[in-house]
Amino acid sequence: EFEVVAARSGKVLRVRHDKSIAETLEEAGLRPLLSCEQGICGTCLTRVISGEVDHRDTFQTQLEKSSGSRIAICCSRARSRQLVLDI
Ligand code: FES
Repeated sequence: EFEVVAARSGKVLRVRHDKSIAETLEEAGLRPLLSCEQGICGTCLTRVISGEVDHRDTFQTQLEKSSGSRIAICCSRARSRQLVLDI
């Protein structure tokens, strides 16, 4: 379990182990852009303001992943206790 801050609305959400970040945002009434929901298409890529990402997508390159600047919210998770996202 980790925390996501949706910076544009200021919402602070707990992401349970059996839910994706995208599902958690939807449950909170937000409407993230999604398509494949499998980490393939890149539609859901969201800018990371702070926090460390546990990348699970196959869309971004290793270089992009190590920069940690964007996260595929349909499948990736957090290594840090909190992620602040530009959404
Ligand atoms: Fe396709 Fe997330 S919706 S990578």
